[in-house]
Amino acid sequence: MRIDVVTIFPEYLEPLNVSLVGKARAAGRLDVRVHDLRDWAHDRHNTVDDTPYGGGPGMVMMTGPWGEALDDTLADGYEAGAGRPALVVPTPSGRPFTQQLAGELAERPWLVFAPARYEGIDTRVTDEYRTRLPVYEVSIGDYVLAGGEAAVLVVTEAVARLLPGVLGNAASYRDDSFAPGAMADLLEGPVYTKPPTWRGRGIPEVLLSGHHGKIARWRRDEALRRTVAHRPDLIRRCDPAAFDKRDREMLSILGWMPGPDGRFGPSPHVMEE
Ligand code: ADE
Repeated sequence: MRIDVVTIFPEYLEPLNVSLVGKARAAGRLDVRVHDLRDWAHDRHNTVDDTPYGGGPGMVMMTGPWGEALDDTLADGYEAGAGRPALVVPTPSGRPFTQQLAGELAERPWLVFAPARYEGIDTRVTDEYRTRLPVYEVSIGDYVLAGGEAAVLVVTEAVARLLPGVLGNAASYRDDSFAPGAMADLLEGPVYTKPPTWRGRGIPEVLLSGHHGKIARWRRDEALRRTVAHRPDLIRRCDPAAFDKRDREMLSILGWMPGPDGRFGPSPHVMEE
């Protein structure tokens, strides 16, 4: 996969040299190129932003430098035979970035990231490139960052670990929280490693039992427990057919029961508390 990032802070993308993404690059599975947007600015001050039409606070990134930067970057990739590109624009007003979208992006041969600073990029830039290639405007969460660079790191890491041969153990992402179909979309429960006792704290007996069925059940119970506590919306969203008899018992212990439509929600006496 080829990844281009156009940014006014190339040094912000340094983390792409380390850990999983760095190794994928070194192994030749990922070709990452970071470009300085100011290389496409034309005045003495390398200006890339201007005041917003209609007034208001902050600055808006200008069409000129972005248009030239993206044209040159795309031309270079096409020449190198990078395949069909997709443009990824991180913005708090984008669609939520999910594991499913990470999987979709991982199928593509070439991603071009356009992270913005200030109040964002003049909308005509995305409008223009949408006529030529798929454009994904994505938000990594309901909070506002100072710029899209951190979101580029997040998206790149989530995508890179799905590329063939990048993760040592292909099974490791099948059980991920949010992996399609995994654990019926529950969060992963707690994990333990050696030593068996630390500061007086042991580990759940069942994990030492060697009984795979019981261990799987325990993990599922803990996943249900954690999901109810941290992401009750995921339980409500679950197709009730994904819950077996033991799941239902566990949910009942946690104070959740099926409503009129069969979907699970907190039982009324729990909600009153
Ligand atoms: N830029 C600023 N905030 C962002 C967010 N939450 N997601 C993606 N890009 C952003």
